[in-house]
Amino acid sequence: MVQETYQPALIVHGGAWAIPDNQVAGHLSAVSNAAQIGWQVLQQGGSALDAVEQAIVALEDHPAVNAGRGATLTRDGKAELDALIMDGRNLGLGCTANIRTVRNPIRLARAIMERTPHTLIVGPAADELAAQFGLEIVPPEYFITEAMRNEWQAHQQGGSDTVGCAARDGAGNLAAGTSTGGMTGKWSGRVGDCPLVGSGGYADNYSAAVSATGWGETLMKVVISKTACDFSAAGLAAQAAAEKAIEYLTQRVNGSGGLILVDRFGNFGAAHNTPRMAQARVYPDGRIEAFC
Ligand code: GLY
Repeated sequence: MVQETYQPALIVHGGAWAIPDNQVAGHLSAVSNAAQIGWQVLQQGGSALDAVEQAIVALEDHPAVNAGRGATLTRDGKAELDALIMDGRNLGLGCTANIRTVRNPIRLARAIMERTPHTLIVGPAADELAAQFGLEIVPPEYFITEAMRNEWQAHQQGGSDTVGCAARDGAGNLAAGTSTGGMTGKWSGRVGDCPLVGSGGYADNYSAAVSATGWGETLMKVVISKTACDFSAAGLAAQAAAEKAIEYLTQRVNGSGGLILVDRFGNFGAAHNTPRMAQARVYPDGRIEAFC
Protein backbone atom coordinates (compact mmCIF):
# COMPACT_ATOMS: atom_id res chain seq x y z
CA MET A 1 0.00 0.00 0.00
CA VAL A 2 1.36 3.44 -0.90
CA GLN A 3 1.50 5.83 2.05
CA GLU A 4 -0.12 9.14 1.08
CA THR A 5 2.02 12.19 1.84
CA TYR A 6 0.88 15.72 2.52
CA GLN A 7 2.53 19.09 2.31
CA PRO A 8 3.46 20.12 5.89
CA ALA A 9 2.30 23.50 7.16
CA LEU A 10 3.15 25.45 10.31
CA ILE A 11 2.12 28.80 11.73
CA VAL A 12 2.97 30.37 15.10
CA HIS A 13 1.80 33.45 16.97
CA GLY A 14 3.35 35.56 19.70
CA GLY A 15 0.20 37.25 20.95
CA ALA A 16 -2.48 39.69 19.78
CA TRP A 17 -2.59 43.04 21.54
CA ALA A 18 -1.37 46.63 21.17
CA ILE A 19 2.26 45.57 20.82
CA PRO A 20 4.27 48.80 21.19
CA ASP A 21 6.67 49.77 18.40
CA ASN A 22 9.67 49.14 20.61
CA GLN A 23 8.58 45.52 21.20
CA VAL A 24 7.92 44.61 17.57
CA ALA A 25 11.47 43.45 16.84
CA GLY A 26 11.51 41.16 19.89
CA HIS A 27 8.18 39.61 18.91
CA LEU A 28 9.30 39.08 15.30
CA SER A 29 12.49 37.44 16.48
CA ALA A 30 10.55 35.12 18.82
CA VAL A 31 8.00 33.95 16.23
CA SER A 32 10.57 33.58 13.41
CA ASN A 33 12.84 31.47 15.57
CA ALA A 34 9.95 29.29 16.77
CA ALA A 35 8.63 28.81 13.23
CA GLN A 36 12.04 27.69 12.07
CA ILE A 37 12.37 25.20 14.92
CA GLY A 38 8.91 23.76 14.34
CA TRP A 39 9.49 23.54 10.61
CA GLN A 40 12.75 21.62 11.08
CA VAL A 41 10.83 19.01 13.06
CA LEU A 42 8.34 18.61 10.21
CA GLN A 43 11.09 18.52 7.58
CA GLN A 44 12.77 15.69 9.45
CA GLY A 45 9.54 13.69 9.32
CA GLY A 46 8.40 14.60 12.84
CA SER A 47 4.74 14.77 13.80
CA ALA A 48 2.66 17.91 13.96
CA LEU A 49 2.46 17.32 17.72
CA ASP A 50 6.26 17.30 18.04
CA ALA A 51 6.55 20.42 15.89
CA VAL A 52 3.96 22.29 17.94
CA GLU A 53 5.64 21.30 21.21
CA GLN A 54 9.13 22.31 20.03
CA ALA A 55 7.96 25.62 18.56
CA ILE A 56 6.19 26.50 21.80
CA VAL A 57 9.18 25.50 23.94
CA ALA A 58 11.19 28.03 21.90
CA LEU A 59 8.55 30.69 22.54
CA GLU A 60 8.37 29.87 26.26
CA ASP A 61 12.16 30.28 26.46
CA HIS A 62 12.12 33.59 24.59
CA PRO A 63 11.84 36.51 27.05
CA ALA A 64 10.12 38.88 24.58
CA VAL A 65 6.76 37.07 24.65
CA ASN A 66 4.26 36.25 27.39
CA ALA A 67 4.82 32.56 28.09
CA GLY A 68 7.40 30.79 30.23
CA ARG A 69 10.26 33.22 30.87
CA GLY A 70 8.92 36.73 30.24
CA ALA A 71 5.41 35.91 31.45
CA THR A 72 3.14 38.63 32.79
CA LEU A 73 2.75 38.80 36.56
CA THR A 74 -0.20 38.40 38.91
CA ARG A 75 -1.48 41.11 41.28
CA ASP A 76 1.04 39.88 43.85
CA GLY A 77 3.92 39.90 41.37
CA LYS A 78 4.20 36.17 40.59
CA ALA A 79 4.18 34.22 37.33
CA GLU A 80 1.36 31.67 36.97
CA LEU A 81 1.44 29.78 33.70
CA ASP A 82 -1.15 27.91 31.64
CA ALA A 83 -0.79 25.64 28.59
CA LEU A 84 -2.72 23.31 26.29
CA ILE A 85 -1.79 20.86 23.56
CA MET A 86 -4.13 18.91 21.29
CA ASP A 87 -3.63 16.08 18.81
CA GLY A 88 -5.96 16.24 15.83
CA ARG A 89 -5.60 12.51 15.07
CA ASN A 90 -7.58 11.29 18.05
CA LEU A 91 -8.56 14.50 19.88
CA GLY A 92 -5.86 13.71 22.46
CA LEU A 93 -5.73 16.60 24.92
CA GLY A 94 -3.43 17.80 27.71
CA CYS A 95 -3.91 21.00 29.70
CA THR A 96 -2.41 22.61 32.77
CA ALA A 97 -2.86 25.85 34.71
CA ASN A 98 -1.44 27.91 37.58
CA ILE A 99 2.05 26.49 37.06
CA ARG A 100 4.82 28.19 39.06
CA THR A 101 7.97 26.12 38.64
CA VAL A 102 7.88 24.18 35.36
CA ARG A 103 10.21 25.74 32.81
CA ASN A 104 8.10 24.60 29.85
CA PRO A 105 4.42 24.19 30.69
CA ILE A 106 3.73 22.92 27.14
CA ARG A 107 5.86 19.86 27.93
CA LEU A 108 3.80 19.26 31.04
CA ALA A 109 0.57 19.58 29.02
CA ARG A 110 1.85 16.90 26.66
CA ALA A 111 2.92 14.67 29.55
CA ILE A 112 -0.55 15.01 31.07
CA MET A 113 -2.03 13.95 27.73
CA GLU A 114 0.28 10.98 27.22
CA ARG A 115 1.20 9.82 30.72
CA THR A 116 -1.90 10.31 32.86
CA PRO A 117 -5.53 9.21 32.56
CA HIS A 118 -6.56 12.90 32.79
CA THR A 119 -6.71 15.95 30.54
CA LEU A 120 -6.35 18.91 32.95
CA ILE A 121 -4.16 19.06 36.07
CA VAL A 122 -3.53 22.38 37.82
CA GLY A 123 -1.67 24.15 40.61
CA PRO A 124 0.95 22.77 43.00
CA ALA A 125 -0.02 19.17 42.23
CA ALA A 126 0.77 19.81 38.57
CA ASP A 127 4.16 21.32 39.49
CA GLU A 128 4.89 18.22 41.57
CA LEU A 129 3.78 15.93 38.78
CA ALA A 130 6.17 17.65 36.38
CA ALA A 131 9.04 16.96 38.77
CA GLN A 132 7.99 13.29 38.97
CA PHE A 133 7.97 13.13 35.18
CA GLY A 134 11.52 14.48 35.09
CA LEU A 135 10.61 17.79 33.46
CA GLU A 136 12.88 20.76 34.16
CA ILE A 137 11.94 22.62 37.34
CA VAL A 138 13.10 26.20 37.89
CA PRO A 139 12.74 28.67 40.78
CA PRO A 140 9.66 30.93 40.41
CA GLU A 141 11.96 33.94 39.84
CA TYR A 142 13.25 32.36 36.61
CA PHE A 143 10.12 33.52 34.79
CA ILE A 144 10.29 37.16 35.92
CA THR A 145 12.11 39.46 33.51
CA GLU A 146 12.97 43.06 34.30
CA ALA A 147 10.63 44.22 31.52
CA MET A 148 7.69 42.37 33.02
CA ARG A 149 8.45 43.58 36.53
CA ASN A 150 8.48 47.14 35.18
CA GLU A 151 5.20 46.61 33.34
CA TRP A 152 3.64 45.14 36.46
CA GLN A 153 4.81 48.11 38.55
CA ALA A 154 3.56 50.60 35.96
CA HIS A 155 0.19 49.12 35.06
CA GLN A 156 -0.79 46.46 37.59
CA GLN A 157 -3.44 45.23 35.20
CA GLY A 158 -4.23 44.97 31.51
CA GLY A 159 -2.03 43.57 28.73
CA SER A 160 -2.47 40.04 27.64
CA ASP A 161 -0.75 38.04 25.05
CA THR A 162 0.03 34.42 24.58
CA VAL A 163 1.99 32.18 22.25
CA GLY A 164 0.79 29.32 20.10
CA CYS A 165 1.34 27.08 17.12
CA ALA A 166 -0.81 25.12 14.68
CA ALA A 167 0.62 22.58 12.27
CA ARG A 168 -0.07 19.84 9.75
CA ASP A 169 2.55 17.13 9.22
CA GLY A 170 3.53 14.99 6.24
CA ALA A 171 0.99 12.35 7.24
CA GLY A 172 -1.79 14.94 7.14
CA ASN A 173 -2.25 15.06 10.90
CA LEU A 174 -3.07 18.32 12.68
CA ALA A 175 -1.99 19.60 16.11
CA ALA A 176 -2.26 22.83 18.07
CA GLY A 177 -0.81 24.23 21.27
CA THR A 178 -0.99 27.40 23.33
CA SER A 179 0.96 28.71 26.33
CA THR A 180 0.65 31.88 28.40
CA GLY A 181 1.34 33.80 31.56
CA GLY A 182 -2.17 35.25 31.30
CA MET A 183 -2.91 38.90 31.93
CA THR A 184 -0.86 41.44 33.84
CA GLY A 185 -2.26 41.93 37.34
CA LYS A 186 -4.59 38.91 37.18
CA TRP A 187 -5.82 37.55 40.48
CA SER A 188 -3.82 34.62 41.72
CA GLY A 189 -5.63 31.44 40.68
CA ARG A 190 -7.33 33.13 37.72
CA VAL A 191 -7.40 30.94 34.62
CA GLY A 192 -8.04 32.37 31.15
CA ASP A 193 -8.89 30.72 27.87
CA CYS A 194 -5.48 29.17 27.20
CA PRO A 195 -5.80 25.79 28.95
CA LEU A 196 -9.53 25.39 28.23
CA VAL A 197 -10.27 23.04 25.37
CA GLY A 198 -11.84 24.80 22.39
CA SER A 199 -10.98 28.21 23.81
CA GLY A 200 -7.18 28.53 23.89
CA GLY A 201 -6.78 25.88 21.22
CA TYR A 202 -8.33 23.01 19.33
CA ALA A 203 -7.20 20.46 16.75
CA ASP A 204 -9.23 17.94 14.80
CA ASN A 205 -8.10 16.23 11.59
CA TYR A 206 -11.69 16.58 10.37
CA SER A 207 -11.55 20.38 10.49
CA ALA A 208 -8.51 22.46 11.52
CA ALA A 209 -5.89 23.25 14.15
CA VAL A 210 -6.28 26.58 15.94
CA SER A 211 -4.44 28.53 18.64
CA ALA A 212 -6.01 31.67 20.13
CA THR A 213 -4.68 34.71 21.95
CA GLY A 214 -6.16 37.75 23.66
CA TRP A 215 -8.55 38.61 26.45
CA GLY A 216 -9.29 35.20 27.92
CA GLU A 217 -12.51 36.13 29.70
CA THR A 218 -14.08 36.88 26.31
CA LEU A 219 -12.39 34.21 24.20
CA MET A 220 -13.69 31.43 26.44
CA LYS A 221 -17.29 32.64 26.20
CA VAL A 222 -17.38 32.04 22.45
CA VAL A 223 -15.11 28.96 22.60
CA ILE A 224 -13.15 30.72 19.91
CA SER A 225 -10.87 27.94 18.67
CA LYS A 226 -13.63 25.34 18.33
CA THR A 227 -15.84 27.97 16.73
CA ALA A 228 -13.18 28.58 14.06
CA CYS A 229 -12.79 24.80 13.55
CA ASP A 230 -16.55 24.46 13.11
CA PHE A 231 -16.55 27.19 10.47
CA SER A 232 -13.77 25.32 8.69
CA ALA A 233 -15.62 22.00 8.91
CA ALA A 234 -18.69 23.70 7.46
CA GLY A 235 -16.69 24.49 4.32
CA LEU A 236 -15.25 27.96 4.85
CA ALA A 237 -11.76 28.61 3.51
CA ALA A 238 -9.08 28.87 6.21
CA GLN A 239 -8.86 32.67 6.16
CA ALA A 240 -12.63 33.08 6.09
CA ALA A 241 -13.05 30.70 9.06
CA ALA A 242 -10.50 32.70 11.08
CA GLU A 243 -12.13 36.02 10.21
CA LYS A 244 -15.65 34.81 10.94
CA ALA A 245 -14.64 33.53 14.38
CA ILE A 246 -13.08 36.89 15.27
CA GLU A 247 -16.14 38.70 13.91
CA TYR A 248 -18.30 36.58 16.21
CA LEU A 249 -16.02 37.36 19.17
CA THR A 250 -16.39 41.08 18.47
CA GLN A 251 -20.12 41.11 17.90
CA ARG A 252 -21.25 38.65 20.55
CA VAL A 253 -19.13 39.58 23.58
CA ASN A 254 -17.21 42.68 22.52
CA GLY A 255 -14.10 40.57 22.96
CA SER A 256 -10.57 41.17 21.78
CA GLY A 257 -7.93 38.82 20.47
CA GLY A 258 -6.75 36.82 17.54
CA LEU A 259 -6.15 33.33 16.26
CA ILE A 260 -4.06 31.32 13.84
CA LEU A 261 -5.38 28.34 11.93
CA VAL A 262 -4.17 25.51 9.67
CA ASP A 263 -7.00 23.65 8.02
CA ARG A 264 -7.08 19.98 7.02
CA PHE A 265 -5.88 20.91 3.52
CA GLY A 266 -2.81 22.71 4.91
CA ASN A 267 -4.09 26.23 4.28
CA PHE A 268 -3.33 29.10 6.68
CA GLY A 269 -5.78 31.50 8.26
CA ALA A 270 -5.14 34.27 10.78
CA ALA A 271 -7.29 37.10 12.09
CA HIS A 272 -7.35 39.55 15.00
CA ASN A 273 -9.29 42.60 16.11
CA THR A 274 -6.39 43.98 18.16
CA PRO A 275 -3.95 46.58 16.80
CA ARG A 276 -1.33 43.89 16.20
CA MET A 277 -0.75 40.15 16.26
CA ALA A 278 2.76 38.72 15.98
CA GLN A 279 2.85 35.70 13.70
CA ALA A 280 5.13 33.68 11.45
CA ARG A 281 4.16 31.17 8.81
CA VAL A 282 6.32 28.76 6.85
CA TYR A 283 5.65 28.21 3.15
CA PRO A 284 6.26 24.91 1.33
CA ASP A 285 9.68 26.09 0.09
CA GLY A 286 10.76 26.74 3.69
CA ARG A 287 10.47 30.51 3.42
CA ILE A 288 9.40 32.09 6.73
CA GLU A 289 7.21 35.16 6.68
CA ALA A 290 6.92 36.99 10.01
CA PHE A 291 4.72 39.99 10.64
CA CYS A 292 3.29 42.00 13.47
N1 GLY B 1 -5.29 34.65 26.49
C1 GLY B 1 -4.57 34.54 27.68
C2 GLY B 1 -5.32 34.82 28.89
O1 GLY B 1 -6.30 35.56 28.86
O2 GLY B 1 -4.98 34.31 29.93
